[in-house]
This record gives sequence, C-alpha cells and structure tokens, in this order.
Amino acid sequence: MEEKSKKCVVLGVTGGIAAYKACELLRLLQKQGADVYVVMTKNAGRFVAPLTFETLSGHPVACDTFERPATWEVEHVALAKRADLFLIAPATANILAKMACGIADDMLSTTVLATRAPVLVAPAMNTGMWENPATQHNLSVLASRGVRIVAPATGHLACGDSGAGKLEDVQVIAQTAMDMLRGRVRDMEGLRVLVTAGPSREALDPVRYITNRSSGKMGYAIARAAQRRGAQVTLLSGPVALECPQGVGLVPFGTTAELLQSASALAPEQDVLIQAAAPADYRAKEIAPQKIKKQSGAPMVLELVENPDVAAALGAAKRPGQVFVGFAAETNDVLEHARGKLARKRLDMIVANDVTRPGAGFDVDTNIVTLVTKEACDELPMMSKDEVADRILDRALALRSAKKAE
Ligand code: PMT
Repeated sequence: MEEKSKKCVVLGVTGGIAAYKACELLRLLQKQGADVYVVMTKNAGRFVAPLTFETLSGHPVACDTFERPATWEVEHVALAKRADLFLIAPATANILAKMACGIADDMLSTTVLATRAPVLVAPAMNTGMWENPATQHNLSVLASRGVRIVAPATGHLACGDSGAGKLEDVQVIAQTAMDMLRGRVRDMEGLRVLVTAGPSREALDPVRYITNRSSGKMGYAIARAAQRRGAQVTLLSGPVALECPQGVGLVPFGTTAELLQSASALAPEQDVLIQAAAPADYRAKEIAPQKIKKQSGAPMVLELVENPDVAAALGAAKRPGQVFVGFAAETNDVLEHARGKLARKRLDMIVANDVTRPGAGFDVDTNIVTLVTKEACDELPMMSKDEVADRILDRALALRSAKKAE
C-alpha cells in the first residue's frame, strides 16, 4: 500500500498484562498494510513503555503522562479524525465501562468518544471481572451502538485463575480489524443462523387469502448480513418478490402452520434464530373448496380461528446457549407490548418497530427500531434495513457471549 492510501488504525492500549501483546498486534496490522497510531492510558505505560510503540509505529504515542502535555485537546480530535478504524486491545473492564457511559477523562477515552470511525474492542481481564453483570451489560450497550467485540478466549490467566478473559489471539484480532477496514467482517463464522421473513398467506378459498404488508425486506437484510459475516444461514421465507441472497439456504412457507412445521424442524440445530416474519395470527376456520360467491346485499361473515404462535412454541423448546430474537410490529404502546412479547415468547431480545412511523416497518428500505432485552432498551435512529440488520447481529453476538459467560 502507498503511504497516502494506507488505512489508518488508531490502536488504543489499556493497562493490563496483555498490553505487551499489542506490540505484536501493531506489527501484524502494519504487515497487512495499515498505518498504526497508538494511544495509551497511563496504566498501559506501566506495562509497556510508550517508546516501544513509538519505535514500532514510527509515530508519536499519545498518552497521559505529564511529560507529554503538548497538544492534548487538539491531539485527541486529530487522532479521532485520522482513524479509519479505532481498535482497543487489550480493553480493560474500565475502558469498556467508560465507553458505555460516554466518560472522557483521559486521552484514550476522549479520543474514542470523539471518533466517527468504526470501533473494535478486544477485552482482556480477570474471569470474575469479565463475567460480572456490569461488564456484560456495558458490552451489550456498546454492541447495540455498533461497537464490534472480539470476545476473550478461555485459558490460564496471568492472575492465576483459569477461565474466560484471556486476550484473543492477536492474529484473530488483526484479521477482524483488517476485515472491518475492508468492509468484510466474518465474526459469525461457524454459527448457524435461522431467519424468518415475509408474510404468511391464509387461504379463504381457491383464489383469496388473508395476508399483510410484509415485503420480506427486513428479514432478507438480516439473512444477507449474517451470510456476509460468515454464518451458515437458512431463510424461512413467506411469499415475497425478493431474490434469496447468494449462499443462503431458502425454505419457503405459505401459511403460519407451515412456518411452524419448518421452523420447529430447523430450530434445534441453530445457534441464533431471528424472527422477522409477519405470520398471520388468524386463519379461516374452513377453507371454502370453491370460490366464495357474492351474496348480494347480505353481509359476509368469515369465521377465523387462532394460528399457533410460532415464536412462543420455539421459545418453549429453546436449549441453553441459543439466542432467540423476535420482532414486535406495533402501532401503540410499543415498548409495553414489546416487553410483554419478550417474556411470553421466551425471547432474548425483541426488536420493536412502531409501524405507523414514516420510514419504519412494512415495505420500506429503512426502519426505526428499539432493541429491547430484559436489562436494556436501546433506541436506534432511522437507518437502512441493512444497517439495522448488522446492529441486531452485533447485539445477538453480545448476548451469545454473555450466555457463554454464565
Ligand atoms: O417485511 P418488511 O416489509 O421489511 O417489514 C418488516 C416487518 C415490519 C415485518 C418486521 O420489521 C417486523 O416487525 N416483523 C414482525 C411482524 C409481526 O408479526 O409482529 P408481531 O408483533 O405480530 O409478532 C411478534 C413476534 O412473534 C414476531 O417475531 C413474529 O415473527 C412472531 N409471531 C407472530 C405471530 C405468530 N402467529 N407467530 C409468530 O411467531
């Protein structure tokens, strides 16, 4: 890569024993063509001298020592703007907490708050700190804001404990960083993901049916994103006018009962299940064998019976470790209804959309959603359904690593 066309990675190093591994990480990033600038916390400087990073990176190191006060305020903005990617490795529980709360009280926290670049964190800490609900909550908050997380590995830790909290292999971190820079993140490799999309059609007679306005766009965006991120994806799709994304396995359904049958067969194998489909809650008690004739003047009465609730049936059979995400299409009291569905259907997260808002819900390319879990409620601004899909997947991955930590 030419010097000017090189992508810039700002590497934040925080104070943990794994700080020394950031030197090798820096080298790996450089080898793959990145220009790396380092920002260190004061505590990181106790583990590795700034001079080491200065020599390796060929750039001054931004840190918080009083010997280097020069252009503190300006420097953080300059670095924040320069970054094509902001990577923090190792990331302590402390920096994750500061980022989740928007605290900016040193060079690194100030710079990462100021950046508009994508952010990747590779946490490393003692197992107890990693498993603490406060840390897991902070990670969920960060994931819902689009921060990517390379979860720590399990192993023998410097503090003498064994468990989760060891900095992931620097090769993996470097590869994830480069994939992000190239717009190719493959953080779902090895995972099986089932996505439902589109409406159901409940026949009334041979020519008519009950359906709804779902175009399938939301579910297809999720399937596309999960496939791009390396997952093995199956798309259970109602009748829509969309092409199945390449590499995704398509299983069509017509009625809610068919959706239930296919989803029940496929769900036990999945790591993540995302239910963006809009299956009808009711179907005709009897399907007329012939076209129903007009009865001049007389009111037409259709008798409907309730369909099975697919999400609730799957939720009841969920096995430990699986992450189930549902949607709530609401027109009023959005959060109240969404929370009710989250609990009733035994979901890990529900994506609430107020389908009365322009730019949200059915048959548009954008959505305005709130990600609701038992612990948190994160309202996202209007964004493309592709972007919403990535946010949902980020959050599903964070929920999965929280489950693994349980
Ligand atoms: O397809 P698009 O045009 O892109 O529109 C996207 C969307 C509005 C369809 C999508 O964002 C959305 O909200 N999907 C869920 C629609 C829905 O059926 O919502 P609900 O609140 O009625 O159902 C709650 C959850 O239970 C959903 O995950 C749904 O898939 C599931 N469900 C509903 C009824 C039923 N009988 N069985 C179910 O499993």
